Amino acid sequence: MKFLTQISAALALLGSSAMAHPVFDELMEPTAPLKRAQAALSRVNDFGANSSGAKMYIYVPSKLAAKPPVIVAIHYCTGTAQAYYSGSPYAQLADQKGFIVIYPESPYSGTCWDVSSKASLTHLGGGNSNSIANMVNYTLNKYNGDASKVFVTGSSSGGMMTNVMAATYPEMFSAAIVYSGTAAGCFYSQSGGTNQWNNSCANGQARGTPQVWAKMVFDMYPNYDGPRPKMQIYHGSADSTLNQNNYNETIKQWCGVFGYDYTKPDTTQANTPQSRYTTYTWGDHLVGVYAQGVGHTVPIRGSDDMKYFGL
Ligand SMILES: *[C@@H]1O[C@H](CO)[C@@H](O)[C@H](O)[C@H]1NC(C)=O
Ligand SMILES: *[C@@H]1O[C@H](CO)[C@@H](O)[C@H](O)[C@H]1NC(C)=O
Ligand SMILES: *[C@@H]1O[C@H](CO)[C@@H](O)[C@H](O)[C@H]1NC(C)=O
Ligand SMILES: *[C@@H]1O[C@H](CO)[C@@H](O)[C@H](O)[C@H]1NC(C)=O
Repeated sequence: MKFLTQISAALALLGSSAMAHPVFDELMEPTAPLKRAQAALSRVNDFGANSSGAKMYIYVPSKLAAKPPVIVAIHYCTGTAQAYYSGSPYAQLADQKGFIVIYPESPYSGTCWDVSSKASLTHLGGGNSNSIANMVNYTLNKYNGDASKVFVTGSSSGGMMTNVMAATYPEMFSAAIVYSGTAAGCFYSQSGGTNQWNNSCANGQARGTPQVWAKMVFDMYPNYDGPRPKMQIYHGSADSTLNQNNYNETIKQWCGVFGYDYTKPDTTQANTPQSRYTTYTWGDHLVGVYAQGVGHTVPIRGSDDMKYFGL
């Protein structure tokens, strides 16, 4: 696949320190070959305040819905907007369904997202998360978007950022899908560093109670008591980049936020949505999918994502 060649080339360029970061089995289901997207990916320069320097790319399909929904699709470490655009199914799905896709691009070398600084882990804190929220507002205003249908998803570092977006801008998103990420705040840097790698989280040693993890979310937007996005969390049991314990810690976090009992899912469905995946649900706001034998990252499930987003 052309996409995998690009990843290998990027990894080769980045050298050995980046090699400790995500390496992909596959980004998408191999059974779903992509048609070419019909419109083009374009760069947007003036989307509002951008003190963190993140870049904005956008995919606007040629047949746009009257009040288009918006999906924010966030790339992995070593990734770019272009790579996630060509390696994920969202642009082709936008051609079918008329929504807009925003592909933010990290400004850092190594191009992981900043999910470690106080700025990014705070509502209106001026970090990467704030830049992405500004991209969403720009898009809603410019294209008369449907503010009640704004969604966020991402893989790996983009999955971590998806949890962070859900925690810092809960008023903005109605649903979020995390592929192989970590809990919001799990990559927090004690020294306040921006875009820091956090070994204890990556290695699955950062453990907390649902209350501790939930407090991190509440502290990212103090006094917020409005609606929050529903969350779907995918993780593979054989993830050697972001240890599989991060699945449970993320589930505990959102159970703590929504008041669900983490030890008692409402339903447990074996071999769902496919063989060796188990799907757990809590109330109407949390779904966990634990993929037995799957490494980093769990392949994106485009048509299931559309169902979860109600598109
Ligand atoms: C955001 O930062 C990037 C990188 O510095 C820059 O290229 C871009 O023009 C900035 N956009 C805005 C809206 O400030
Ligand atoms: C986005 O726009 C809404 C509505 O105008 C506003 O309330 C909100 O504060 C904006 N969010 C950001 C991150 O600027
Ligand atoms: C890594 O994150 C955890 C929280 O998940 C935090 O307790 C720890 O101090 C962080 N490590 C560093 C080096 O900042
Ligand atoms: C997650 O928690 C469940 C329930 O406590 C436990 O059975 C399972 O082994 C845990 N999984 C991981 C990967 O730690």
